[in-house]
Amino acid sequence: MGGAEHRASATAPMKPQRAVALLLLGAAAALEDGLARTPPMGWRSWNCYGGDVDDARIRAAVDALAAKRTSPWTGARRSLADLGFARAGVDDGWQSCGEGYEGSFHAADGTPLVNASRFPDLAALVRYGHGKGLLMGWYDDNCICLDSYKLRANASWAALAYAADVEQVYAAGFDGVKIDNCGDDDGSGFAARVRDIKGRPTPVLVENSNQGSGLGPPRGLPTDADWCDFHLFRTGGDIRPDFDGVVARLQRVLPFTNSTPPISRPGCWAYPDMLEVGNFGWALGGPRNDAAFVESRTHFGLWCVVSSPLILGFDVADDDKLEAVWPIVSNEEAIAVNQAWAGFPGTLVVDDAAYQVWAKPLGGATAALVFNRGAATLDVSVPLAALGLPETATARDVWTHTNATVSVAWTATLPPHDSAFAVFSS
Ligand code: GLA
Repeated sequence: MGGAEHRASATAPMKPQRAVALLLLGAAAALEDGLARTPPMGWRSWNCYGGDVDDARIRAAVDALAAKRTSPWTGARRSLADLGFARAGVDDGWQSCGEGYEGSFHAADGTPLVNASRFPDLAALVRYGHGKGLLMGWYDDNCICLDSYKLRANASWAALAYAADVEQVYAAGFDGVKIDNCGDDDGSGFAARVRDIKGRPTPVLVENSNQGSGLGPPRGLPTDADWCDFHLFRTGGDIRPDFDGVVARLQRVLPFTNSTPPISRPGCWAYPDMLEVGNFGWALGGPRNDAAFVESRTHFGLWCVVSSPLILGFDVADDDKLEAVWPIVSNEEAIAVNQAWAGFPGTLVVDDAAYQVWAKPLGGATAALVFNRGAATLDVSVPLAALGLPETATARDVWTHTNATVSVAWTATLPPHDSAFAVFSS
């Protein structure tokens, strides 16, 4: 359809069997408490509410995650939680900034002070989420009050604060905590909190929100499959609802997805950030349009094919928005690709200025997503050999749920930012 013809040249085809064997070695060094055997899924407040978050908004999100809707794919009644999005996370904005010791939100005994007009009773909020079948997440070391800078000037007070932060998570009954890095540059605050968490009988899901900085212990990026003190780690800076920015964030997973054994693995997932699915085209209050739908779908597929944690970031309590992206987020075949593990998280296999192909071995099958990076419609042709496949394969189209036989090359005509997503078997 008038698009430029692009023919892919393959980068190295994958060797899934070898990756499976090596993964078993690597996985032993991740946090082996069983909490993140597959990429965590859920929702978190930051991408839609920023710091303007409160008990009512979190409860409304919990309700939305638990509410059943009809699947356009199967006709079954499913909630987002049924589909796997079963974690609801509070992000920044819960603190009583400046009300504590030395102008912080931590008291002199270390207690973190909650803004009670926003969150009157954390344990009750957690009970509410649990009552709806969800797991609940908290957030520490924040970027709005920036207590880290004050804490690190007073080691004994800081130790009390780190312990009290963890105690707050456990006292309220949270199931996970995102630990940001807003001033804890040497990682001592992170290390103290994680040590405390690991010493307790009940594990919680730990997100290392280090924006992709640093290497190795105590809180940098994992450099190999021998160390990982968290279940998921941010590979870069904050995502925005802007397609090129989303694509740029994605590239940051590469060092963790293309090594052998892979660094992104069960128990330790590379995370290019929360999803902006549902936020394109809405950011300025505009109506949803087809381009926004297409961008959301490509973004979702990319996060699926690299085994990223899938943390929704749109206002799930807004029924119009949820309805608009429901065909995307309820696509169980896409989610199945994300959650599958056959030794390899999925990585970039064809890199072209106009498009990229990302692929993930599924064990007996291969998932692949090709997307158009540019502003013009594009005809792409991806040799099956670039996916490590024989000359003929059956392609299950993840977006349309139809089957086709493909010979020699996988072809697609892609409008701007659109994608084709298929699971190939031979
Ligand atoms: C950092 C994190 C974001 C969000 C904000 C909150 O920028 O990377 O995900 O948590 O802090 O202030």
